[in-house]
Amino acid sequence: MSYSAFYQESIQQPEVFWDKEAQLIDWHTPYRQVLDHSHPPFAKWFVGGETNLCHNAVDRWLATQADKPALIAISTETNTEKIYSFAELHTEVQRMAACMQSLGVKQGERVLIYMPMIAEAAFAMLACARIGAVHSVVFGGFASKSLATRIDDARPVLVLSADAGMRGGKAVPYKPLLDEAITLAEHKPQHVLLVNRGLAPMPWVAGRDVDYASLRAQHLEAQVAVTWLEANAISYVLYTSGTTGKPKGVQRDVGGYAVALASSMKHIFCGNPGETYFATSDIGWVVGHSYIVYGPLIAGMATIMYEGTPIRPDAGIWWSIVEKYKVTRMFSAPTAIRVLKKHPSELMKKYDLSSLQALYLAGEPLDETTSSWIASELGVPIIDNYWQTETGWPILSIARGVESLPSRLGSPGLPVYGYHVQLVNESTGALCGANEKGVLAIKGPLPPGCMQTVYGDDQRFVQTYWNNFPHEQLYSTFDWGIRDADGYYFILGRTDDVINVAGHRLGTREIEESISSHAQISEVAVVGVEDQLKGQVAVAFAILKHPELAATAEGRRALEAEVMAVVDKQLGAVARPARVHFVGSLPKTRSGKLLRRSIQAICEGRDAGDLTTIEDPASLQQIRAALAA
Ligand code: PRX
Repeated sequence: MSYSAFYQESIQQPEVFWDKEAQLIDWHTPYRQVLDHSHPPFAKWFVGGETNLCHNAVDRWLATQADKPALIAISTETNTEKIYSFAELHTEVQRMAACMQSLGVKQGERVLIYMPMIAEAAFAMLACARIGAVHSVVFGGFASKSLATRIDDARPVLVLSADAGMRGGKAVPYKPLLDEAITLAEHKPQHVLLVNRGLAPMPWVAGRDVDYASLRAQHLEAQVAVTWLEANAISYVLYTSGTTGKPKGVQRDVGGYAVALASSMKHIFCGNPGETYFATSDIGWVVGHSYIVYGPLIAGMATIMYEGTPIRPDAGIWWSIVEKYKVTRMFSAPTAIRVLKKHPSELMKKYDLSSLQALYLAGEPLDETTSSWIASELGVPIIDNYWQTETGWPILSIARGVESLPSRLGSPGLPVYGYHVQLVNESTGALCGANEKGVLAIKGPLPPGCMQTVYGDDQRFVQTYWNNFPHEQLYSTFDWGIRDADGYYFILGRTDDVINVAGHRLGTREIEESISSHAQISEVAVVGVEDQLKGQVAVAFAILKHPELAATAEGRRALEAEVMAVVDKQLGAVARPARVHFVGSLPKTRSGKLLRRSIQAICEGRDAGDLTTIEDPASLQQIRAALAA
């Protein structure tokens, strides 16, 4: 079938289309209705059907490949490598599930997972899925305040964590940050289950903290049956940044997500049972949820969980993994490839990469230089794919499993089946023609696998995502895009205050709030500025309560370091601005709105744009002067 016909069916007859795709997974009870779109923009898929993500990822494969690798946990930080077969994974997940149940976790309750990239983190996610508990994984790079906000929103009964992660040969303690977060949070989890890796000392809170190794030892023989869940039950909540300082809990279902992942593994990622998949992301991000843990396992593939950097012990490490485990499909981010590009490519050439069939890249714009370089080094197709935490799986890509259409440099490709993608004029809501810039929007219903709502806040879901255009209720991606005459899309950056640092999605408002908590700061603007390596970096412009503190270069340096330390402590080093400049005023409109776009433009050496509404043009001069100094 041509991709065009495949796509058209998905849009014109979504029920017929997804009914077929739904056969890719196991159902315990068949669904009554493929789609219930009676209360738009909410979409319910596979209504009445009962299934389970853990069953489809693990138990389902026991009959045919119990002894085949399922989870390959590699740490170049602790120099450990362990392969879990599907049978072993099944055993470990049941042990973990029994531990959770013994601590009182019940169906529908939340379990927060704040863990490094170790096998236990995957056991924990799958164990939650097995018993119908809702997991909320928080990226290990986030610090206490970020964590506390998420604890208060998700209200977990249990938190899973570890003494420490490791990065670049150094232990990164998790437990003290977690303890501080729980102190800061209003909600107090009943228990904290801790994996002790022996990397960092762990202060212990009696009555609350539980040692995983000891508890697991009591549940070695555990058999925990799968809890069958209605397709629209909540599988997880994953927080992501938006326009406000308060992160949104992206809530996902069970059945639609399982179907979307199985379908994307077949048509986009082309993975087959028995093969090995290697996604280099982290379980704290959506790519880790969809394509480290659930997607590959649902497809019966072995999945690699990697703790370490791309360049330690040297820049050949990932390729040595590809060779050793005969990886067929790999998924990474452009930033990682740009990092590798700075190292000698002989390190890559040393290895036999003949198993590799394609490299998928996502999370940030893929520039042509990086794309061409890695394509020529690897000699396999490089497949850009564009999507969001909210959608859970690609919106734009080339579904080579359907038809091997050519890619186009700089473009993630065509709308993926199921997504009725439109480019819309921001103010008039009119559809854009070819080569006309607009906001990338999606006409509802969103396909299976996408967010159901904002956790605990339906109104915010509707308000934030579906209320941005004058004439019609459309889902906004908050990305600018353009489409060429052949229908290929190009992403031109965010329309909101979200920035993308090394593939990590961050909200500038969150960073501003954190910086403002420094006693000397009266006001601050944070913008994302283009960066050769990381795609973007955060740059802050702050007004001091006592400007004289920044009178000398030394004073400025000391304050800048202090501000960075505040962000490190509250949000984590991932959110730390690359520079903090001190200015006397910030460019604003006459109604007091910060002109972030103009600041960003000046930082990137571009024209400051439309300044008809600016209150004080001299403030722009201050930005320029700060940059020049
Ligand atoms: O701005 C787009 C950018 O990353 C945002 C979503 O980030 P996140 O929620 O972390 O999900 C990442 C899932 C891969 C998008 O709104 N983005 C993501 N992929 C691409 C991209 N920008 C350009 N090209 C891409 N392939």
